[in-house]
Amino acid sequence: MTDPRRWAIPAPEEVHVWWLDLRAPPGASDAILSPPERARAARFHRQIDRTRWTRTRIAVRCILAGYLGLPPQDVEYASDPESEGMRTRIAKPTLASDPRLRFSLAHAADRAALAVAWEREVGIDLEPIDPDLDLRSLLTIACSSVEAASVEAQPPPDRVARFLELWTAKEAYLKAIGLGLFRDPRMLEIEFRPDRRAVVHDAHDPDAASRCGVRFLDAGPGWAAALAVEGAPGGADLSVAGPVRCTALMSDMAAPSAPPDNTLVIGC
Ligand SMILES: CC(C)(COP(=O)(O)OP(=O)(O)OC[C@H]1O[C@@H](n2cnc3c(N)ncnc32)[C@H](O)[C@@H]1OP(=O)(O)O)[C@@H](O)C(=O)NCCC(=O)NCCS
Repeated sequence: MTDPRRWAIPAPEEVHVWWLDLRAPPGASDAILSPPERARAARFHRQIDRTRWTRTRIAVRCILAGYLGLPPQDVEYASDPESEGMRTRIAKPTLASDPRLRFSLAHAADRAALAVAWEREVGIDLEPIDPDLDLRSLLTIACSSVEAASVEAQPPPDRVARFLELWTAKEAYLKAIGLGLFRDPRMLEIEFRPDRRAVVHDAHDPDAASRCGVRFLDAGPGWAAALAVEGAPGGADLSVAGPVRCTALMSDMAAPSAPPDNTLVIGC
């Protein structure tokens, strides 16, 4: 018997963004995790990392189960990359239970973010704005010379935040296309647009800008976050637009009482 769907599948013009507060214990136990997931959790050296990662995975299962109408332990990933050692980092996770439901996950310190969409690739990234970041080296490894100059043109207190806008946009895009950091982030150029939007110019893919839109998210003070969304089939330009209401941090992640009040409406 399957569980009823707890939340509606995202409409074609929607991406659901869930913010996870990893400080609170979830309302479900790690018994819902797959054996490879539990094995991966056991490989973390630090207890804090193990706890946060486990909480995230419990929450992700519970949230995805709510869309699929399945018990959380029955959510199946297309390949269970945890069982493949280092190859875990290569493949974009997808759902065997229903591959039309797409998701992207980001963890950062005591938070995580999960983006969910229907038949549309998404990528999300979340980073704390750490004023002590070693910007000089990060600009060298992550940015084009034009981008590095644009960061350095900011007043000093704003530089880290500006860099993290570039970085989260790049990582969100690389997650949306499933390559992750196997693609050199310097090959991407982020062009800022009005209304907290951006487009990605990808030296390896001249059509990237028309196929994938980026929207910067309000993740609260001290955080940078970006969402990349695949455009409409057929290549129509679908920029990420519209109101963003994603302020709630889900603390009781296993049993959120309502569907996300953080639906991002994307405009065609
Ligand atoms: C995927 C990647 C972009 C994640 O970035 P990160 O800052 O380490 O971690 P985040 O919390 O933002 O994202 C992690 C999630 O991304 C997802 N992910 C993993 N590989 C992915 C891929 N190829 N495409 C899209 N999403 C991916 C997973 O859901 C992962 O969650 P998990 O750790 O619970 O499995 C990055 O680790 C990567 O590209 N790795 C492959 C290349 C690599 O390892 N290079 C090392 C030298 S740079």
